[in-house]
Amino acid sequence: MNNRITEILGIEYPIIQGPMAWLTNAELVAAVSDAGGLGVLGPNAGQTTVTKSIEETAERMRREIKKTKELTDKPFAVTLIVDYDLSFTSPILQIVIEEGVKAVLINGILDENIFKQLKEHNIKIIFRPQTPSIADAQAAEKMGADIYVATGFDEGGTVPDRVIGTFTVVPMIVDAVQDMPVMAAGGIADVRGVRAAFALGAEGVFAGSRFIPVTESPAAENVKQLIVDSTAEDLLLFRTVPSYYRSLPGKLAKKLVEMDQLGASREEIAQKMNGTRNMKVGMLEGDTEEGYVSVGTGITPIKKIQSVEEVVLELMQDFVEN
Ligand SMILES: Cc1cc2nc3c(=O)[nH]c(=O)nc-3n(C[C@H](O)[C@H](O)[C@H](O)COP(=O)(O)O)c2cc1C
Repeated sequence: MNNRITEILGIEYPIIQGPMAWLTNAELVAAVSDAGGLGVLGPNAGQTTVTKSIEETAERMRREIKKTKELTDKPFAVTLIVDYDLSFTSPILQIVIEEGVKAVLINGILDENIFKQLKEHNIKIIFRPQTPSIADAQAAEKMGADIYVATGFDEGGTVPDRVIGTFTVVPMIVDAVQDMPVMAAGGIADVRGVRAAFALGAEGVFAGSRFIPVTESPAAENVKQLIVDSTAEDLLLFRTVPSYYRSLPGKLAKKLVEMDQLGASREEIAQKMNGTRNMKVGMLEGDTEEGYVSVGTGITPIKKIQSVEEVVLELMQDFVEN
């Protein structure tokens, strides 16, 4: 069953797998796209080591794009982080154009020049700001974003600055725009969440945590099992830059909560998190004591490790034509 999202992206089901640093490699992304959704290569896709070099970051992404193209002939997207300093953005954009990638997930600010270049190459723009807002959604529509993702505080990863849940942010954004389709993100992990998102006016769903305890994910096996065994009640929440973060319990996560309670600054807590490097330690390497394990509050209904195809078909069951 087609809708505006499937038509814009050339996919079968209106579901996107959100980028997740270190955890969205070619195998996972190709599996999502093969299953009928849109896979998205995120930061450090397919990597196990850290690099600060812009050239190396871009070349690593080119290799992962090529690998994804070998694994699937379906559309997939690449994350384009757009901030005021475009030093990382421009080389990745160039590669996206050269490799014929069909869509980008823009994470960051609205930049007219970047939009123009993408439009010139007929690359679809999925815009997902860290913190959705009425003004930002209207500006994104005016600038020509093809799809806007409204993310609620329920999400895994870096949560929005404002404590507005998925249930309230989605209709707020849907009502704010004229004609741009809106997708819902944050806490969606089963078909009830999908139906709720559509009832709120979303035309598609954008999920991250649900795509970690899957066979094709590069996440450590003990982390996949930990997510299956945990509920939202287990999650620890602490302040950091820019706002808050969640983790399943472990030595580092408990220390971060303690620092928060003792009044450490957001910057001090962020420093202890060490960017996404301690996410790599926790989630890719499986050391849940020394690293952290970031997931959204939607994990409760996840009861087993499944293949990507099973997950997509379960979430998209209302869209499967018999
Ligand atoms: C472990 C993890 C890492 C993430 N890393 C990124 C990232 O690097 N860039 C980004 O735009 N979003 C990132 N996200 C957010 C996801 O793309 C998606 O918006 C989010 O997972 C949706 O909420 P859900 O986890 O409740 O489904 C991350 C999420 C998780 C769980």
